[in-house]
Amino acid sequence: MQCLIQQLRDRKPDESGFVLGVAGSKGGVGKTTLVTNLAIAYAQFGLRVAIVDCDFDQRSAASWCRRRQERGSSPKITWSTTKLSELRQSSIIRSQAYDVIMVDTAGHANNVIGQLASVVDKLLFPTQSSIFDIERTNLMVHAAQNIEGLDFGVVFNRGRSPSKMRLQAVEEVPKLLDTHLPESVKLHDASAIGFGIGELDYNCSVAKSLREIALEAVDPNQKGIAENE
Ligand SMILES: Nc1ncnc2c1ncn2[C@@H]1O[C@H](COP(=O)(O)OP(=O)(O)O)[C@@H](O)[C@H]1O
Ligand SMILES: [Mg+2]
Repeated sequence: MQCLIQQLRDRKPDESGFVLGVAGSKGGVGKTTLVTNLAIAYAQFGLRVAIVDCDFDQRSAASWCRRRQERGSSPKITWSTTKLSELRQSSIIRSQAYDVIMVDTAGHANNVIGQLASVVDKLLFPTQSSIFDIERTNLMVHAAQNIEGLDFGVVFNRGRSPSKMRLQAVEEVPKLLDTHLPESVKLHDASAIGFGIGELDYNCSVAKSLREIALEAVDPNQKGIAENE
């Protein structure tokens, strides 16, 4: 099994889990989709996962968690909502009961990167393929680059590979993950019932991409081995 995933599994009880934040300069770029589906990907790797929803207006990730709870879905994903400014003090972040903690944020939050930087182990910025989205993402990337020690990556969402746009994005966006998240109606279907796509169809290509992204997010050297377990 992948070494870093194994390390997270074998964590000592007093060690904190890996905190993975997802942020973007606007709504609709796929932050919550990434948070919920990566949560399931990590859970399917056998890790204990929690979600902190800092998008205080929308609370979409929290609603998704609630839908799971109402359906009695397994694995259980613990969740809480908190203001971004209070993230550090949140009970889930302070708890040592989770191997991976996903943090969802609002698209327009001011100083979102600065507030996340001191809490997360890594930040992911989903971006879509239009030049406007790429430009806005690059603003966040530059802000992230200015914060010493902040590890982050950009996830290209809803593009076709290898489209012209994708190639353009590769050229223009630093720290782009190798694996992108394809457009898929199944992502919609899964979200609607409080599932991750990996629960709806474990073997579909989008679920495989999400497992690759999950591995790349915690350790870029692990890409390409998600399906070789
Ligand atoms: N790769 C994708 N394929 C299909 N639909 C997607 C994809 N990514 C996001 N969506 C859809 O786009 C909408 C916005 O995504 P969401 O994750 O809620 O964005 P955000 O949290 O950044 O506002 C949702 O309806 C979601 O299902
Ligand atoms: Mg959202």
